[in-house]
Amino acid sequence: MMMMKTLKKSLEIPEVYKINEPLHQSTYLVNGTLKPWNGATTNVYSTISSTEEYQKTLLGTIPQLGEAEAMEALDSATNAFDKGKGIWPTMKVADRIDCMEKFVEQMKTKRAEVVKLLMWEIGKSLPDSEKEFDRTIDYIYDTIEDYKQMDRDSAKFEKHGGVYAHIRRGPLGVVLCLGPYNYPLNETFCLLIPALIMGNTAIFKPAKFGVLLMSPLLEAFQNSFPKGVVNILYGRGRTLATPIMQSGKVDVLALIGNSASAKALQTQHPKSNRLRLVLGLEAKNPGIVLPDADLDLAVEECIAGSLSFNGQRCTALKVLYVHEDIVDEFNKRFTAKVDALKFGNPWEEGVKLTPLPEPDKPAYIQELIDDAEAKGAKILNAKGGETSENYIYPAVLYPVNKDMRVYHEEQFGPVVPVVAFKDIDEPLDDIADSNYGQQVSLFGKDVNTLSPLIDSLVNLVCRVNLNSSCQRGPDVYPFTGRKDSAVSTLSVHDALRSFSIRTFVASKDNAYNNAILEDLLEKKTSNFISTDYIL
Ligand code: G3H
Repeated sequence: MMMMKTLKKSLEIPEVYKINEPLHQSTYLVNGTLKPWNGATTNVYSTISSTEEYQKTLLGTIPQLGEAEAMEALDSATNAFDKGKGIWPTMKVADRIDCMEKFVEQMKTKRAEVVKLLMWEIGKSLPDSEKEFDRTIDYIYDTIEDYKQMDRDSAKFEKHGGVYAHIRRGPLGVVLCLGPYNYPLNETFCLLIPALIMGNTAIFKPAKFGVLLMSPLLEAFQNSFPKGVVNILYGRGRTLATPIMQSGKVDVLALIGNSASAKALQTQHPKSNRLRLVLGLEAKNPGIVLPDADLDLAVEECIAGSLSFNGQRCTALKVLYVHEDIVDEFNKRFTAKVDALKFGNPWEEGVKLTPLPEPDKPAYIQELIDDAEAKGAKILNAKGGETSENYIYPAVLYPVNKDMRVYHEEQFGPVVPVVAFKDIDEPLDDIADSNYGQQVSLFGKDVNTLSPLIDSLVNLVCRVNLNSSCQRGPDVYPFTGRKDSAVSTLSVHDALRSFSIRTFVASKDNAYNNAILEDLLEKKTSNFISTDYIL
């Protein structure tokens, strides 16, 4: 084990970002009401210190709700769906869009509060926190536009075999929505917003970190949607989600997190065949650097890929395969860049590495380093493994092999394993054998080498990034994975499909039926059968 080296840190907090008063979230949203909670509460801490001597900062408190409140939220969502008769699932598309627009307009006014909480709760840098907020707003507007197009495309009748059909996408029912701490706003809303706009009702529990940042948005949720459509619970996932799933009343489990929690919840459903899954799970995306790659470009992209937000992204590059002919030069350039990254608090100018929100994370990363060192790897960079109370500086580990934990485990934090390869079949076989199948980054130039690789890699993962790091965006592109990495596809458009089902009205082409349809269209008595065009 290496000697602990202490990371230098600054303590200055600009006035505008200081936590002057803790935020006590004393209500939860159920049945259209922000219901006061007088029971037990849980303290919410930041791992960022506000004082010279290190101590966690108390940001506020949240209700510690129990099974009774979980069932109350479930009843509220079930009643709002009301066996398909509810106001929300039967509402005109244009009216649902109005509700969503009302919500997003209010949300926009809360940017500063949400961004500040993002920085404190999960340690995300100021520019990245702003980006998370802005990207979410764009996602909501793009979702609205896409839904309008979907509605325009279905504002018609088809006729085949003497049968008219009016086909649309309808809601699935009640959605249980659980988001991750690394994108507590964006990823959660990428589930919740499409689920809602398609006419489902939802129970939503904020992530374990990044929970207070929902407080500024609660009133907007409350006043934009009919009662019971959105229900927001606080507390432990297991306590709240388990009885909700055991009721058998959840139609969709929407979760971004890890496959162990998804599996545990899924198996609680008494009729699991009915349960639809929209899951974004763990990954171990590899970067493959071929001998003819533009090394500076590869290094730049591997830095962003492996270390943006400290590697706490499901899309992060979590293992780098570098061809043996260039591995020494790659390591030299890569480690120099890693050691040039600035660590500091989220609001500091030019900061690239920021405090880890999970208090146990530095110790876990240290375990991975110790294990790799014991099995023959070295820390290549001078700053690798320097620690502070809330951070461990990224260590570049080389040579990494399959006996090491860091090779297999999704580190979700600041440590970069580098594996040298001779034959391209080595990384290809590893990817095929891996439990994950989200994305890969491929660095190289010669098309004769790249083409067969691309042709196989697209069958092992769901996005091959050519000479660039892995990422989810732009959000219009499909985001999914194979094996343990995902179920269903998310993108602005695909999410609308994932949270809905094709459903239609069919009628034989005869004078009797046609007269009814014409009457119905003329009088506009149905919200489903309509050829109105939303502009
Ligand atoms: O944590 C997983 C996120 O979906 C990654 O999104 O590639 O935009 O950081 P990103």
